[in-house]
Amino acid sequence: MRLDILTLFPEMFSSLEHSIVGRAQNSGKINVNFHNFRDFATNSQKHVDDMPYGGGQGMLLMPQPIFDTLASFPHEKARVLMMDPAGRRFDQKFAEELAKEEQLVFLCGHYEGFDERIKTLVTDEVSLGDYVLTGGEVAACVMIDATVRLIPDVLGKKASHEDDSFSSGLLEYPQYTRPEEFRGLKVPEVLMSGHHENIRKWRLSESLRKTLRLRPDLLEKYELTDEERKILTT
Ligand code: ADE
Repeated sequence: MRLDILTLFPEMFSSLEHSIVGRAQNSGKINVNFHNFRDFATNSQKHVDDMPYGGGQGMLLMPQPIFDTLASFPHEKARVLMMDPAGRRFDQKFAEELAKEEQLVFLCGHYEGFDERIKTLVTDEVSLGDYVLTGGEVAACVMIDATVRLIPDVLGKKASHEDDSFSSGLLEYPQYTRPEEFRGLKVPEVLMSGHHENIRKWRLSESLRKTLRLRPDLLEKYELTDEERKILTT
């Protein structure tokens, strides 16, 4: 997958050099390119923002540097994602959709926002959540991390993402590793029983109860099987 990131602050993406995303870069599974759109500003002071017509607070990114930056590299088939708190909410399903693309372009703004005409270049306006960040860089890092780990063979076989919270529509069940008892806190006995069917049932029950407790909104969208309905009503 090719990633192109339009930003005034490429150094904010250093997290992508580490851990799993870093390894994906080193092994060539992803290829990350940065484009500082200040380099494309045509005015003598290299300004990329200006005041809004009609008045108002803050500065807006001007169209020219963004249009020219995007024209400087091939992106005909790319998803062009604008980081914007007013965009579609990013979630696991969106990450799964993006992981299938050949090229993603991330447009990271600062200041109050974007000149509306920049949106003619964009396929998706995307938000990380209902809060305002100082810029789109942190949001893009999160989206890249969540997307890249879903590209085939980026996670090892052992660290499969199929059981992740949200992949199934439920939160993941609790997990334990050694020792069997730590400071008086014991591992549930069923997990050491070797009884696969009982372990499956326990995990399903814990997943359902955890989701009901912490994220009841997820259950509203989830189609319960007969077995799951029974667990929740007993
Ligand atoms: N830029 C500023 N806030 C943002 C958010 N919540 N999501 C995406 N981009 C942003």
